[in-house]
Amino acid sequence: MVGDVHRWWRSADETFLERTRPDLTIFVGDLGDEDVEMVHRVAEIPVPKVVMLGNHDAWQSFGRKASTSKLRESLAVLGDDHIAYSVREVPSAGISVVGARPFSWGGPSLRSPELYDEIYGIHTMRQSAAAIADAARHAQHRDIVIVAHNGPMGLGAETSDMFGKDFGKPGGDWGDRDLALAIQRIEGFGMRVRAVIAGHMHHKLVHPRGAERTRFVRRGGTLFLNAAYVPRVRVTELGDEVSYFVRTQWQAGECLAVEELWVDVHGTEYEASVPTIVEIDGLPPAVDETLD
Ligand SMILES: [Fe+2]
Ligand SMILES: [Fe+2]
Repeated sequence: MVGDVHRWWRSADETFLERTRPDLTIFVGDLGDEDVEMVHRVAEIPVPKVVMLGNHDAWQSFGRKASTSKLRESLAVLGDDHIAYSVREVPSAGISVVGARPFSWGGPSLRSPELYDEIYGIHTMRQSAAAIADAARHAQHRDIVIVAHNGPMGLGAETSDMFGKDFGKPGGDWGDRDLALAIQRIEGFGMRVRAVIAGHMHHKLVHPRGAERTRFVRRGGTLFLNAAYVPRVRVTELGDEVSYFVRTQWQAGECLAVEELWVDVHGTEYEASVPTIVEIDGLPPAVDETLD
């Protein structure tokens, strides 16, 4: 998994992916600010991958409530690798990867129903939830991994919670309503949502400034992973420039391991550690099916 890129992408990152050849590389979006050049760079990496574009990748289109030529070019360049409302099979892991709504800003609104209508024929949260669930219905495996830009509602309302609002008037659950409803429906089909992989809510908080967000959570049989360590490139105390990935290992539909990983300027693994996964008790909050 590659968290929000925000243009922090190095040729060493590409070397690392080409050398280690994961069965699937997942980009959770915010590659740049509607930055077609960055989209081309990611699209051209010669490894199996899926991308979920983020709010920053459609920044100007949201401003105009209509797609810009840059957004249309981004979608054309990615083609089937853009996983919004679609499914990618990973037989070696025993999972089907299902794409949620692209370009999410989080919070209660779609921000521009006009833009979603133009591209996907969707203009409500409820229609969006139905489109995510429909993609899952076509999956070949019972074990599902969902890829989203922002995570689902229901994981807490504190600023440091995984998708808690830490900006503006801080506090409140900033998770996606449509995604929470889609998860409820997919589990209703008898499928198992094994993991939800997202980003958007960056690791360092605005309120309280400098505190860190919880980014690894388990609730029941579902893992929630937020890969948005931003910027994803840092310099270590020893002066080495390293970049961030999250690596998961799967077998027969089950996640065996989660690691946070740093890669050096030669594209070699520099450091790996196992994150603490916070357990959340109880069932997800029931989402109102009449959501609009
Ligand atoms: Fe971001
Ligand atoms: Fe974002």
